[in-house]
Amino acid sequence: MEVIISRTYDDLSKLAARMIAEQVKHKPNSVLGLATGSTPIGTYGELIRMHKHEGLDFSKVVTFNLDEYVGLPPTHPQSYRYFMDEYLFNHVNIPKTNIHVPYGHAESILDFCQWYEAQIVGYGGIDIQLLGIGGDGHIAFNEPGSSLGSRTRLKTLTRQTIEDNARFFDKPEQVPCFAITMGVGTILEARKIIMLANGPKKADIVAEAIEGPISAQVTASALQLHRDVVVLVDDDAGAKLKRADYYKWVYEQKTKLLPGLIGRGT
Ligand code: F6R
Repeated sequence: MEVIISRTYDDLSKLAARMIAEQVKHKPNSVLGLATGSTPIGTYGELIRMHKHEGLDFSKVVTFNLDEYVGLPPTHPQSYRYFMDEYLFNHVNIPKTNIHVPYGHAESILDFCQWYEAQIVGYGGIDIQLLGIGGDGHIAFNEPGSSLGSRTRLKTLTRQTIEDNARFFDKPEQVPCFAITMGVGTILEARKIIMLANGPKKADIVAEAIEGPISAQVTASALQLHRDVVVLVDDDAGAKLKRADYYKWVYEQKTKLLPGLIGRGT
């Protein structure tokens, strides 16, 4: 795992966007795995800036989102599809037909989940997967106890996740309690993974996921098994990391001696 501790959220967002932009320039038809939530908003903002001012071209890019609430239509302001339109899709040139967000109104969720997995495989797999981390250590909506081999499926959200997400809804009881989510196993098949975390509220869980034991109780810890993961945290979210000095030292040395290898494994 490569852990990069940025001073600010802005620095973290720029670095994540740069890694995604490099991937898209290197392979214009890249398959990107995308996340919602507050964490990646800065990254999407920077990608939009690069598209508008530096000509970053998304015309061949294909995207797959991690998850979606069950029961919210794509037009609902709290649906993840709506979020993605607002924060990214409406502002860059990804063809609408290349965009995939789980459909929370699918008639058969089981069939839909199988179809979604098959689509990912059909496009050759995910090149780079962007992740946030939930307060309970989830990645996508893989709540504690999710199998580390799980695939795209229906998941019942924990009370903590529902409370965490209630800030986006008028009333807590409006937060759906089911979601369609990529599984941990699906995520681990991405060729590269970038996990982002910012703010003091994430400090404990980031340390547990990165430096604690691998456990289905903290599904983000499964990332320790992946061969190409970059964890980007700001100072606040990285505050409880025991090996923070080492991570900073690695970054300094690479900046000086191997700048081309930042974000490419330690
Ligand atoms: C969103 C997702 C979730 C979030 C996580 C953190 O698509 O899959 O796992 O990444 O809940 O959310 P924020 O960024 O709002 O703290």
